[in-house]
Amino acid sequence: MSVPRPAAVIVLAAGEGTRMKSKKPKVLHELCGLALLDHMLRAARGLEPGRLILVTGHAREQVEKHVAETSADAEIVVQEERRGTGHAVRTVLEKAGPIEGTVLVTYGDTPLLRTATLAELLATHAREANAVTVLTAEVPDPTGYGRIVRDAAGAVLKIVEHKDATPEERAIREMNSGVYAFDGALLADAVKRVSSANAQGEEYLTDVLAILREDGHRVGAHIAADHVEVEGVNDRVQLAAARQVLNRRILERHMRDGVTVVDPASTWIDADVVLEPDVVIHPNTRLHGGTSVAEGAEIGPDSTLTDTVVGADAVVRNTVAQGARIGPRAQVGPFAYLRPGTVLAARAKAGTFVEMKNAQVGEGAKVPHLTYAGDAVIGAGSNIGASTIFVNYDGVDKHRTIVGEHAFVGCDTMLVAPVTVGDGAYTAAGSVITEDVPPGAIGVARGRQRNVREWVLRRRAGTASADAARRAIADRTDQADDTEQAE
Ligand code: UD1
Ligand code: CA
Repeated sequence: MSVPRPAAVIVLAAGEGTRMKSKKPKVLHELCGLALLDHMLRAARGLEPGRLILVTGHAREQVEKHVAETSADAEIVVQEERRGTGHAVRTVLEKAGPIEGTVLVTYGDTPLLRTATLAELLATHAREANAVTVLTAEVPDPTGYGRIVRDAAGAVLKIVEHKDATPEERAIREMNSGVYAFDGALLADAVKRVSSANAQGEEYLTDVLAILREDGHRVGAHIAADHVEVEGVNDRVQLAAARQVLNRRILERHMRDGVTVVDPASTWIDADVVLEPDVVIHPNTRLHGGTSVAEGAEIGPDSTLTDTVVGADAVVRNTVAQGARIGPRAQVGPFAYLRPGTVLAARAKAGTFVEMKNAQVGEGAKVPHLTYAGDAVIGAGSNIGASTIFVNYDGVDKHRTIVGEHAFVGCDTMLVAPVTVGDGAYTAAGSVITEDVPPGAIGVARGRQRNVREWVLRRRAGTASADAARRAIADRTDQADDTEQAE
């Protein structure tokens, strides 16, 4: 659908959002990896408006900081005192200057509104050549909303707020979404004439409709196909409901693009996550932030990946990863924890009960079991034995360990950084390696074994162990006798 670009979109977000019961401003609460407000700004941006104006007031420092970091294209207008939606728009038109053309007004707390629906509103507005067109919806329970009052012929007469409505008006189920397309010049004039003589003592933007109609202008309505889209978020129950709807939309987009989501009910994917075709997402998986997963990779079950890049055909099971890069055909988990700076090259493995931080693992190198690798470089084709620890922290500073290519680090090695194990070098199991191991050498750093004969028989006499030992020793003696006889 081609619709005229609006001259401006005004997003109202000065309200307190008291029902959230939060120190954080309502519009900054998180939803699918973005702030509540960001969803509305994105939907508005899809219309390519001439200006994108955000009205702030309550907790404005926090909101403005967020907007400066994430939406540099948005202009901020401060509404010092919250004297109603009409006052908010009047403040914009006074501070940001007159706006010629179509002005779309909406709220910062309606994250489900899609660009397509806003475009339909603009299309109706243009087609009917209205002075104002309000986006409405039929809802099962309109309690609390403004009601759309129409005449017998169906023309919109006015909007009446719930608190000001008569019982007959309260019976109307067509509600005001709070989203409107206005003629900018007519809006600027009408909004000055809004009074605050009403139940809440506020300047209602809704009164602009009756004012324009009385002036002889055309006032219209566009009924949204899906009322869920226009419902705002006022408390955390509605926040959860909105999250579910948004998540479902995101999952369906990916599924239509060729991603298998085994269990949509337990899968949560943020808005900006990128998934290629033939990715398989197993149950209980959450993909956050800037995570991307290449073709054919399998993620989950029970995995949470944040800002993590996964290469083609990699397999990531029961894993928590943050700021990691997992190469093509790499294997991760089950039960791995990859922290920022972890880079696994192609076909590398970070296996079971493995934690990594700031660690580069070369092509085909394997860290299969029970290892902490912090501040590590592990060369291609190397094998790190079970229970190896990269001892990177001396209590004050962090140090790096380098393991070369095709090295073999024995089980239960402590690599006390800074230290280097050369290409093709080995370490003996159980070693505490504090000095470099040259290429091709084996580093052995452990106590030599000493067996104290029959200690258990003497010191643990009468125990099952002592009895078992006695039997074993007797058997060995018998065998020795037999052998002697045979000779
Ligand atoms: C408003 C509408 C109502 C509609 C409902 C839809 C009016 C008078 N009523 O009611 O018809 O059904 O939205 O949700 O417009 N805001 C400001 N500055 C203010 C007051 C509000 O920026 O001075 C912002 C709030 O942050 C919020 C939005 O405007 O995002 C709506 O304000 P709110 O007080 O919640 O209006 P409602 O009573 O819900
Ligand atoms: Ca509201």
